[in-house]
Amino acid sequence: MKKRIVAGNWKMHKTSREAEDLVKEVLEKLDTVDLKKHNNHVVFAPPFVYLQNLGKLLQGMTNISLAAQNCHSEPKGAFTGETAVQMLKDVGCEYVIVGHSERRSYFKESDAFLKQKTDAVLAAGLTPIFCCGEMLNDRKNGTQQSVIREQLEQSLFHLEKAEMQRVVIAYEPVWAIGTGMTASPEQAQEMHAFIRNTIEEVYDHNTAHHLTILYGGSCNAQNAASLFSNADVDGGLIGGASLVADSFVEIIKANSAQ
Ligand code: PGA
Repeated sequence: MKKRIVAGNWKMHKTSREAEDLVKEVLEKLDTVDLKKHNNHVVFAPPFVYLQNLGKLLQGMTNISLAAQNCHSEPKGAFTGETAVQMLKDVGCEYVIVGHSERRSYFKESDAFLKQKTDAVLAAGLTPIFCCGEMLNDRKNGTQQSVIREQLEQSLFHLEKAEMQRVVIAYEPVWAIGTGMTASPEQAQEMHAFIRNTIEEVYDHNTAHHLTILYGGSCNAQNAASLFSNADVDGGLIGGASLVADSFVEIIKANSAQ
């Protein structure tokens, strides 16, 4: 069964105390939700400094995991301020977000660098949540599909089939992130189907149809169900709405109702 995931990308928010409280509140409110039934997973991606503490809190839980928002591609060395994948694994991370549009734009991360990061995450046995997404201008020009294809090609399509089967893709149109301008369910489905078909063309049917493709960009408790009910949308990567337990839990419930 294909994995359905709701991942909360907290970005640069919360104090240590608030971080712990938020996770505890979400877990409490999820008590009645049977995540295992439909292979549903919940992922928390807090800022780095809270990973160790939250890793202890989540240890041993089924279908609830920890993610890092970023990593470096090298295993160790003189990279001041950076964090290696093995370190993330050490503190309990199972996932790493790779190529978020904020990393691509503010930190100038190239497709080539994201390729190396993806390799590093896979080599450590963790799951990359690989983000792709077009800018508003690309959509206005009608070039959104070629932009996405290029991003996948540059950073993922060197992978062997067995590696590709371990990747999660998050489609996040840049114009929808943090703007309140969500992609319509039709726009999301169209792009997700395009991504799946592209994977099928490059790899095979089985790989494409087991691939988890998340939607991200102003997804919230109100619109989650209509986005997630699409055949090719397997959950979401949630920013703002993951910072409040009630809305995050509603989104998780919308995902497990599919
Ligand atoms: P948003 O962010 O839900 O606040 O739009 C999504 C993301 O950046 O992953």
